[in-house]
Amino acid sequence: MASERVLFLHSKNSFMKIIGTGSALPSLAVTNDMLSEILDTSHEWIATRTGISQRRIISHESLVELGVSACKKALENAKLEAKDIDFLICSNTVNNYVTPALSCIIQGELGANCPCIDLNSACSGFVYALDMAAAYLDARKAKNILIVCAEEPSKIVDWSARDTSILFGDGAAATVVTQGKKLKSIHLSTTCAVEPLYYQRKLEFNPYNKKEEFKPLVMNGKDIYKMAVNASVQDISKVMKEAKVTQKEISFYLLHQANVRIMETIREYLGEKEEKFPKNIHKYGNTSSATIPILLDEMNRGGQLKDGDLLVMSAFGAGFSTGACVLEW
Ligand code: COA
Repeated sequence: MASERVLFLHSKNSFMKIIGTGSALPSLAVTNDMLSEILDTSHEWIATRTGISQRRIISHESLVELGVSACKKALENAKLEAKDIDFLICSNTVNNYVTPALSCIIQGELGANCPCIDLNSACSGFVYALDMAAAYLDARKAKNILIVCAEEPSKIVDWSARDTSILFGDGAAATVVTQGKKLKSIHLSTTCAVEPLYYQRKLEFNPYNKKEEFKPLVMNGKDIYKMAVNASVQDISKVMKEAKVTQKEISFYLLHQANVRIMETIREYLGEKEEKFPKNIHKYGNTSSATIPILLDEMNRGGQLKDGDLLVMSAFGAGFSTGACVLEW
């Protein structure tokens, strides 16, 4: 039986602000029509049920290259160099290396020399990384922190399963945060619920144990859909209450880009305007923890954000883990 436990909730105008963003996507765009050549599906079904038209899939590049490229762009945007970074947090669900951590490999390629850590909170990883960064900045353990969300779900989906493979895409996005009172509130919660969404890694055979069974990615789409809507609506109202802000004051809601219908349902529950919910799911699909920082980077570079804008971010994913925050741009 799943039970919810709120892990961390604070709203002291945390000592954090975002000063740089960057993102990098694989060059190969896989359209719905391309998928309909290998699966019993159609552009019409995928577009109407999910809002996705295409996704980027890693072909010749590597996840490390994408992560490093996103970090370099974010550092440049923040007017910092790799040596200025005191801590590197990498949000990642799966990559070629079990060890060392992906953050270590990215750190080496960047030429940084700070401590590094990987974090796996599935699609909620960016908000968990922001929370961890805020705690380090609050404790004065770091001045500049680089968060990189680097994800390749294309390596865990079953490409013969039409209900899961159509949803995901690969990508990376980085964010530089430093000291400054811009984080107004943040809320994380984890409810142990493995069955709705899980993937078991294939491990070496242990001669002293029975052979383990292997299954490709398992997902109950309907359960995830309902859990996502309920959690996100609750999380958003919690963080807004904590931050003492009203809906009128919010410029944008940056939601995890999992399904356009999930986002629309959340928007309808909140009774908010469509233009406050930026979306890029049609181009990239669900890139796990990278969806929100990719969107943030596009908005930053597209000149859509102005000083003082209040942003709500809300993410949800396997675990079942969720996170939301209110921050000022
Ligand atoms: N193309 C065509 N038909 C498909 C299909 C596809 N790609 N995928 C599934 N179908 C079929 C199903 O087999 C089913 O057929 P049946 O009625 O003959 O059994 C039918 O379409 C309806 O499937 P259903 O599961 O009811 O669709 P849905 O409206 O729930 O949409 C999802 C399915 C996966 C798009 C939706 O549940 C979803 O997005 N859930 C959230 C998933 C998610 O975000 N996961 C990541 C969270 S971080």
